[in-house]
Order: sequence, then C-alpha cells, then structure tokens
Amino acid sequence: MIQESQKDRSILVKFDHVGLSYDGVADILSDVDMVIRDGDFRFLTGPSGAGKTSLLKMIYLAQRPSTGAVTLFGENVNQMPREQLPLMRRRIGVVFQEFRLLEHLTAFENVALPMRVQGVNQNEYAQDVTELLTWVGLGDRIFALPETLSGGEKQRVALARALVAKPDLILADEPTGNVDPIMGERIMRLLVELNRLGTAVIVATHDLDLVRRMKKNILRLKGGRLTLHGPLKERTHKPAAGQDQGAAASRSAMGAG
Ligand SMILES: Nc1ncnc2c1ncn2[C@@H]1O[C@H](COP(=O)(O)OP(=O)(O)O)[C@@H](O)[C@H]1O
Ligand SMILES: [Mg+2]
Repeated sequence: MIQESQKDRSILVKFDHVGLSYDGVADILSDVDMVIRDGDFRFLTGPSGAGKTSLLKMIYLAQRPSTGAVTLFGENVNQMPREQLPLMRRRIGVVFQEFRLLEHLTAFENVALPMRVQGVNQNEYAQDVTELLTWVGLGDRIFALPETLSGGEKQRVALARALVAKPDLILADEPTGNVDPIMGERIMRLLVELNRLGTAVIVATHDLDLVRRMKKNILRLKGGRLTLHGPLKERTHKPAAGQDQGAAASRSAMGAG
C-alpha cells in the first residue's frame, strides 16, 4: 500500500481551531489549524503585529489558547497537569530576537545553563557545549562574555543554548532582527543545516527577502488567520520592461525612474 511519506512522520505540534484574545474582546488569532511534523521547516510570516510571537508562545507554553486545542507531542496542552509542562518545554528550543543571554556568564556557561538547571553534571554536558559552540563558529570564543560579542555572535550562542538539551523542535522568533544581513543569512543557514540533520524548525520573520532565498514552506498570518504556502518565488533581479509591475510600482512610489 502506498502511503504519503508525511503520514509516516510523527506530529510534533497540532493546532485545532485555535483562537487567541488577550482582552477577551479582540481576536489576535482565530480558527488556526496547523500541523508541524518531525523534520519540517516552516517560515512563519506576516507583518508586525500579525500574531507571530503569540503563535510561537502557544507552542512553547508561555500562552494558553483562548479557544480550540493545542496538542504538543501527542498531548493536549489544556489537559496537561502543571508539573508536566517543564518536561514538554524541554523538548522545544527557543531563540529570541534579543538573544536573552545572561551578561555575567561566559558563552560556555550560557549554553550550559539549561543543563545546569536540569541538575546535569558538568562532565556530562561539557563536550556537547564545546561542540555546539564550535558548530556555530564560536570555537575560539567559548569563554567570552556576551558584552565582548557582536550581535551575530550572541545570536549564535543563543542558538547553541537552544540546542543543548537536544530538542525535537526549534522555534526562532525574528532571530535575524538584531544582526546585520550577512550574519542574518549565516544564522538562517545554521537553522537550515540543523533541520537537514533532523530537527524541526519554525522561524518567525517579516524579512521576506531572506524567506525568498531559502525556498522553504511558509505559514502566513494575515488578519488573524493562518494559511500554508509553498516557498515564495525568487524575484528576478533585472525584470524585462513591463514584466514586473510590482517592482515598477515600488520604484515609482520611491520617486525613481
Ligand atoms: N501580552 C500581551 N497582552 C496584550 N496584547 C498583546 C500581548 N502580546 C501581544 N499583544 C498584541 O497582540 C498582537 C500580536 O502581537 P505579536 O504576537 O507580538 O505579533 P508579531 O510577533 O507578529 O509582531 C499585537 O496587536 C500586540 O499588541
Ligand atoms: Mg513578534
């Protein structure tokens, strides 16, 4: 019997008719249905204020849905006993736009922190921490303090920290928002490489140029609703005259031509 290959991959996250309202009046998100499977890579796009961060928060259990059901690793979050939440959270690594490193700890100690919090012995995680920092290109900055690191370096420390507990799913919320474009590209490539090695990844971003280059599937938030698209098409750099009306319109809107 022929089966779609995606049916064979286990479901990590499932949203059924999920709605979110912070004040009980206005809906930020409504009727959101989605499935994230093992090995998926998704860009979560939409303008500022569209609800990208809110949606990610419901996945990493920092926000409960107002309506509908969120299922994480096969368990309904609403029915989960409180003491089970930390175990669920450990299976998810999160990277934030503003890095959230502890300034008085070295890169090594920041990456090691999730393991220390779990009470793991240093000799059990030290090699992993060093390998992760080397993988993100910071093998020579292992004992640096955050204040001596650039934005791109801090974000790579934050990525290593998100990975140290070997999560099944990585969520990155505007990970390139505070780094320069070249470093943004490098961080995206690390996330793509990580996904190739088997970890599911969701990246929230409003940087459509970056999304376009990566050719990955897109979850698009608009008006509180979610739609799934294939990858955005790459823009041709030099459109023939009259063939790219969007580019022509934006050029004229900028007063050029
Ligand atoms: N904790 C909160 N309390 C009240 N309103 C919030 C809260 N967090 C976000 N919002 C509002 O929800 C909407 C979506 O925000 P957010 O999820 O941060 O969007 P995005 O990440 O796409 O920019 C915005 O209008 C924002 O002001
Ligand atoms: Mg946001």
